Amino acid sequence: MPRWQSAQRMKSTGKTAIVAPLFHVHGHPVNMAANAPRKILVTSALPYANGPLHLGHMLEQVQTDIWVRFQKSRGHDCLYVCADDAHGTAIMLAAEKLGITPEQHIETMRKAHEQDSAGFLIDFANFHSTHSDENRKWSEEIYSRLKSNGHIASRDIIQAFDPEKQLFLADRFIKGTCPRCKTADQYGDNCEACGATYSPAELIDPVSAISGATPIDRESEHFFFKLPAFTTMLKTWLDSDTLQPQVANKLREWTDAGLQEWDISRDAPYFGFEIPGEPGKYFYVWLDAPIGYIASFDNYCARTGHEFDAYWHPGGDTELYHFIGKDIINFHGLFWPAMLHSAGLRTPTAIYAHGFLTVNGTKMSKSRGTFINASTYLEHLDAEYLRYYFAAKLSNSVDDIDLNLEDFVQRVNSDVVGKVVNIASRCAGFLHKGFDDTLTDSCAEPELLAQCIAAGEQIAALYEAREFNKAIREIIALADKANQYIDGKKPWVLAKEEGRQAEVHEVCSVGINLFRVLMTYLKPVLPAMAQKAESFLNTSLDWSALEEPLLGHTLARFTPLITRIDPKQVEAMVAASKPAEAAVEKPATPEKKQQNEAPQTIEFDDFAKVDLRIAQIIAAEHVEGADKLLRLQLSLGDEQKQVFAGIKSAYQPEDLVGKLTVMVANLAPRKMRFGISEGMVLAAGPGGEELYLLEPHAGAKPGMQVK
Ligand code: MSP
Ligand code: ZN
Repeated sequence: MPRWQSAQRMKSTGKTAIVAPLFHVHGHPVNMAANAPRKILVTSALPYANGPLHLGHMLEQVQTDIWVRFQKSRGHDCLYVCADDAHGTAIMLAAEKLGITPEQHIETMRKAHEQDSAGFLIDFANFHSTHSDENRKWSEEIYSRLKSNGHIASRDIIQAFDPEKQLFLADRFIKGTCPRCKTADQYGDNCEACGATYSPAELIDPVSAISGATPIDRESEHFFFKLPAFTTMLKTWLDSDTLQPQVANKLREWTDAGLQEWDISRDAPYFGFEIPGEPGKYFYVWLDAPIGYIASFDNYCARTGHEFDAYWHPGGDTELYHFIGKDIINFHGLFWPAMLHSAGLRTPTAIYAHGFLTVNGTKMSKSRGTFINASTYLEHLDAEYLRYYFAAKLSNSVDDIDLNLEDFVQRVNSDVVGKVVNIASRCAGFLHKGFDDTLTDSCAEPELLAQCIAAGEQIAALYEAREFNKAIREIIALADKANQYIDGKKPWVLAKEEGRQAEVHEVCSVGINLFRVLMTYLKPVLPAMAQKAESFLNTSLDWSALEEPLLGHTLARFTPLITRIDPKQVEAMVAASKPAEAAVEKPATPEKKQQNEAPQTIEFDDFAKVDLRIAQIIAAEHVEGADKLLRLQLSLGDEQKQVFAGIKSAYQPEDLVGKLTVMVANLAPRKMRFGISEGMVLAAGPGGEELYLLEPHAGAKPGMQVK
């Protein structure tokens, strides 16, 4: 397994000396400097196409992107491919509720995901979908290889089945009363109220979360991947240094306990690929998801003419890395290498797992406004602030990463603006005023500059080893040195003294050269800022060109590279991520006003035609593409209705679930763009944020008639 030796050696000896980086390919140490460019394929986990990207997803993509950009900056051929993970029951049901096809739903999500990633400057070579021709082709191909190798078994299993919806129910689609504390409405196999874990069969009065029907047991044939056949292979793999030690240890618990056959099929209806020769049976989403890595790369190669075979066949001179979160290590660290092995494809060079993102020390929370979507962040703040902060915190371990919002503002302002950009801004002014934006012909401080350049190999080793936090620490320490140098020389004092212009010129020229080196090191983290710095410096920031200082070189006019974060921007982002008490009020329409002012009288008989009922909101969600609507699933006890209600600006969907309200139950169904609305809920107020759903006193039951 390839691995930089230098960072490790430095860690153990504590030496800051530069160690020539050695690189191991298949056990043979190669000197990197003399070596040809490496051919590297990198992936990050394929986000589910059933929800927007949040800052946890961005942590992963930013980590991967920094590593990829670093590899490219060192002259390697490094490609980063990803895709949306588009299959599964959840996506099928979500689309159904929206009244659109799964294909339409995943296409909307894919566009949104692509836009969010682009906003965070994620440099994908390709972003594809698992619902693609390439993925179907590869899933079928790999399955058929597993099958012909005797690695697929089939047998009947018994599962919970929703007789109304005609659908097998995964644990999370079954709810009922907790067998221990008796709290109602608990999902699947654990109770949110008391923390008990149990099998869904133990739930009291279990119901399907989809239809409300009581699940029945039903038998059906499933297909299994014979994982136990790979026990020896996987044990060797776990011992091979391909995984981080903590990850390998965790996975050894699986191999030690004895591997089980893995159920890779699901029954119709399912949104996915039908298994060839097995009508009504589909590949489980997790079977074709990692194959999506191959499919995305295949699509890229077909589009660009890039070579494909060397990357997926064993024995090639290419490297393959998967960046993932710690929650999905079993899929990538056990099932995936076994599948690849059986299919005669290469296994990954390494799998790099990261920890989870917390915000202000705890799990991201909607009510605290810390469950922040990527797009919400981008509406308020520059992507590079967070890229920098993540880099400053990321290591090669699976420890969780905390985004402390106060520390975030302080750290970015102090390091990036106060230390790095400061070097350029304080020097650029003097160079412009007195020296035509041109640097001196020789370097007045060659040692300081050489020191800064020499540190590059160590910084490179740290990037390579994904010890971004240490790389940033080194870079900022160099920025401190540069600032100390300028502070000591005081060009602003010299500039006012007679006959010391040459010194001002020298100091500022050294400052600009130091800035150039630092920005080159930061380029993988801050690509947009680096681009602005390139325009200002009038040169490209190229790691291999650093040995040549900028002498007699003319700069472009300095423009601010990045501004300080105003804590108000962060406050606004948090407010926007909270349940919307603060949404903008919508003025009442003229007709409505009229109605308010002069209510029409109606006969009692007319009123009696309105069937008002107590309804319980059992599900509520945003409607893709609708500004004002929430989709509500209402239970009237023995029946359910779907209503699209214009209450989005006043309520967060998750705050509504479980509440009782009043609905007009006999309104003729209306076909809307998003699906059919089968009634109306009653709310008071002028609209916008001031809108209050009617709620009955305690004791009312779903379905009761309102008289
Ligand atoms: N679709 C699967 C992955 C299939 S890969 C062949 C999946 N999707 S996901 O959308 O739930 O997560 C995508 C990635 O984001 C995963 O690596 C996951 O660990 C990561 N994260 C999701 N929430 C996260 C945090 N709060 N923090 C850090 N990473 C997180 O899993
Ligand atoms: Zn309980």
